[in-house]
Amino acid sequence: MAGKIPQYFIDDLLARADIVPVVDSRVKLRKTGKNYSACCPFHDEKTPSFTVSPDKQFYYCFGCGASGNAVGFLMEYDRLPFPEAVEKLAASMGIDVPREQLAPGQIKRQQESQSLYQLTEKAADFYRTQLKDHKVSTPAITYLKNRGLSGAVCKEFGIGLAPPGWDNLLNQLGTSSEKTEQLELAGLAIRRQDSDGNPGKMEPGKRHHYDRFRNRIMFPIRDQRGRTIAFGGRVLGDDKPKYLNSPETPIFHKGRELYGLWEARQANRELKRLIVVEGYMDVVALAQYDIRCAVATLGTACGEDHIQLAFRHTQELVFCFDGDQAGRTAARRALEAALPQMQDGRSVRFLLLPEGEDPDTLVRQIGGERFDQLIDEQGRPLEDFLFDLLSEGINIQTMDGRARLSKAAAPLLDLLPAGVYRQLMFQQLARRTGLEQDMLEEIIAAEKARAAKLAQQAQPTPPKPVPTAAGEDHARPAAPAPAEAFNEVPPADYEVPPGYDDDESEAHYYTHPSSHPSSHSSSHPSEGPQTRETPRRRSGQYRLPAERMLIALLLHHPQLAQLIDDSARFRDSDDSDLQLFAEILQVMHQNPALNSNQLFGRLMTLQSKEARELLPQLAMSHPIVGSVSQSMEYDPQTEFQDCLQRLAHSAEKQRKRDLLDQLKNSGNQLGEEQLALLAQFRRKPH
Ligand code: UTP
Ligand code: MN
Repeated sequence: MAGKIPQYFIDDLLARADIVPVVDSRVKLRKTGKNYSACCPFHDEKTPSFTVSPDKQFYYCFGCGASGNAVGFLMEYDRLPFPEAVEKLAASMGIDVPREQLAPGQIKRQQESQSLYQLTEKAADFYRTQLKDHKVSTPAITYLKNRGLSGAVCKEFGIGLAPPGWDNLLNQLGTSSEKTEQLELAGLAIRRQDSDGNPGKMEPGKRHHYDRFRNRIMFPIRDQRGRTIAFGGRVLGDDKPKYLNSPETPIFHKGRELYGLWEARQANRELKRLIVVEGYMDVVALAQYDIRCAVATLGTACGEDHIQLAFRHTQELVFCFDGDQAGRTAARRALEAALPQMQDGRSVRFLLLPEGEDPDTLVRQIGGERFDQLIDEQGRPLEDFLFDLLSEGINIQTMDGRARLSKAAAPLLDLLPAGVYRQLMFQQLARRTGLEQDMLEEIIAAEKARAAKLAQQAQPTPPKPVPTAAGEDHARPAAPAPAEAFNEVPPADYEVPPGYDDDESEAHYYTHPSSHPSSHSSSHPSEGPQTRETPRRRSGQYRLPAERMLIALLLHHPQLAQLIDDSARFRDSDDSDLQLFAEILQVMHQNPALNSNQLFGRLMTLQSKEARELLPQLAMSHPIVGSVSQSMEYDPQTEFQDCLQRLAHSAEKQRKRDLLDQLKNSGNQLGEEQLALLAQFRRKPH
């Protein structure tokens, strides 16, 4: 049993090794001055940009950025895991590799893993043999043929068949109780339980286990070294669950494996890209059409470990998911997991397929070449995908929309590692929102504080893991809550707690928390005009309610008053801000020629003390985004109308709430309007 290679040995080996012959024996090098060069073996090129430096003992490609030392080169070029690459380098220098002594616990674990690897390999062999056995395999072979898979592709992926019956594999491999226990450990056999969940009574001569996989097409899952470590099994028809996956075992951690990765490595000397798809069948079907670079997660969402693993083999990832809701959710989560790993030079793209299609069905219709073409032409770069996704439902033409976009995007971009790409993304956000970098940083800080607070609040009740039937997990679960940033807009049937205004669009960024207007109403009809509480609600303090936004806009652009004929409806409101707004309108209607300065002067002599405090704050800050960002372009008229609309919208909601209140208090006397309202509020049955 081999222990770890000691670090001193690796250091020593690298000190003595010469990278030049190591590379030269695989890629012919030409001396160019102090260095050597060649056409890069890791990407396609006609003029050499691959350089090997004997001084520094490393290689570097100016074309694709590949670089490393002698061991790194062997890992990449010979596609070897690290210890094997060290072995190979040492062997080429005629040196034996020492190994560290293992602790007894480690030895036991290694032995256990070793026998699990052997056992799963034997199981894979067994399933493959069954697929050849005409007594049981006819329906399975018909099924695979109907799905368009050739014998060659099935062989490449080692596809097999778990025949019908409870103990086929057990009879084959569980020949002793020790072996049977091992099958259980490998996730291939399940211990029988009585109805209370206790282990069944031990009846002599009777099996206490049964086969996990029965009457299913078997997809072996291989690790990076090609060892079979687990299985996915598909029913032949429409039974449920459609796929059954091996549970976690000492040798299988689904969060860290990608189905098809080993096969892709085998088929390509160099992986131009990896296409991440959702299902086993998608991987195999793409291979059938000669696209041999697809991988799939195994009944789980694509997480950071998956992406890290994929990036170890290529610089370009394409997520190709179904266009349905589940596929979109999967894409969002993949996006989040990818962001922290977007080092310069890496690329991530997204291709969401038309609803009802998956890569398997699509490639069978259009063929491999066009599928590849589709990815090239329509795969959206991460940056576009991210901004499109975040802009959904936001009117980017309005200041409010741009402010919301920056609030949603800034914390996500903050996940990007330092580098040129990060800078470019922030520049792009700045361009799209009109906000400057320091403003975006303020927003990030505020959002971080908010997230931390939310996390703290959430702590007393950590979500319990949902118990699932063994192995019956699913790639498309009801997604756990996605990142805060994506939760901006509540779902359509979000219930509005009484007196709590949920409407995001009714508030704006406000960039001067220090000079923050300090009142906001909790308007209650019976209490007459109200002062406003600080609008420090769910979304942090960067908010200006629509009422105040209207005043601010009017102060900066007095001519907007001409858009409103009648100020009376605002004057009659319960809301003190709207009353103030009405007064300003009236001043402008009587003196249409006033400019912003003059208007302000008049108001300061006319108004109440409250207004005299509020108006300078609103006048000083540039509408919505504050004085920091004078460069921001916006159309005052659009903003103004946007605010009016949102005001109307919230008035309508208030009216409904009031009606509902009336309804509750009115016993059985329902008027027609109330009935209509009731119908409107009735929930869709699920
Ligand atoms: P899909 O339902 O999209 O299946 O699940 P598919 O790959 O298109 O399958 P076919 O074409 O009907 O054969 C995608 C992935 O989700 C996991 C599997 O990993 C599957 O490949 N899954 C799905 C499960 O783990 N269990 C299930 O019951 C269903
Ligand atoms: Mn499918």
